[in-house]
Amino acid sequence: MSFMKRILLASTVAVSFAGAAGASDLTVGFSQIGSESGWRAAETSVSKIEAKKRGIDLKIADAQQKQENQIKAIRGFVAQGVDAIFVAPVVATGWDTVLAEAKEAEIPVILLDRTIETANDDLYLTAVTSDTVHEGKVAGEWLVKTIAGKPCNVVELQGTVGSSPAINRKKGFEEGIAPASNIKITRSQTGDFTRAKGKEVMEGFLKAENGGKNICALYAHNDDMAVGAIQAIKEAGLKPGKDILVVSVDAVPDIFKAMSEGEANATVELTPNMAGPAFDALKAYKESGKAPPKWIQTESKLYTQADDPKKVYEEKKGLGY
Ligand code: AHR
Repeated sequence: MSFMKRILLASTVAVSFAGAAGASDLTVGFSQIGSESGWRAAETSVSKIEAKKRGIDLKIADAQQKQENQIKAIRGFVAQGVDAIFVAPVVATGWDTVLAEAKEAEIPVILLDRTIETANDDLYLTAVTSDTVHEGKVAGEWLVKTIAGKPCNVVELQGTVGSSPAINRKKGFEEGIAPASNIKITRSQTGDFTRAKGKEVMEGFLKAENGGKNICALYAHNDDMAVGAIQAIKEAGLKPGKDILVVSVDAVPDIFKAMSEGEANATVELTPNMAGPAFDALKAYKESGKAPPKWIQTESKLYTQADDPKKVYEEKKGLGY
């Protein structure tokens, strides 16, 4: 090998080694909400996969649905001196103090899948989320189109009280059905984004609404609550998807199974891959020092019976998370 070739090879090896070391040097602390839904479990799995792909050391703290645990976890990450902190904030308010501590320690914070209410947007670097108002609106508009002018009483299963998707999906759905005076939300209660609560609250709705005969549609802020409610509808002797239309948000495999069996009608997809774009934004920020846009928006897509739910179910199951 010529001298020049040897120098070139040595410098190439040095550059790629530096690149790899740079990526694997990053340690990110992720304060995750818990495992309330299939979507949440998928988000946790995808975060691990995306971290591994990039050689990032990801430390996940499960907050078991409690904001106080998230605050403790963030403080722990600050004390450890991680390179960045990801937070999926369980509720929208009450973050300013702890985020100011992270800022003081010069640790960038990225919000994943949920937003916060703060007067100081500088407390976080960026938020990787979908447009949750839009998700609700798409669900509402689907119902308006499907009902086509007939009278329709809707029951609503809300997500966790005070969480940004619960606030926004409610608002968006109300906007979506606003032009249709034939559609009314007659009952609305939280099911805390869980399957068990969704079933329990739906049982109450069915009892209060003449065994369900007065209900035309269910709007659930996530698929897990819809799946629980579908069970309650069946136990009440009615046909979900026919006697009571079912529309929800997330697009997890189980809702496609229900759709393929004719027991659910539509869902709005929320990608579980929030961490991938967040890692990319963080890496670019670390390399250039240039802050990313304040909002990195992920896509929302409506799926209906027309989208071959059996095929989508198989595809989603095949992803393995
Ligand atoms: O923040 C996203 C929401 O949280 C998902 O729609 C829901 O399933 C989860 O619990």
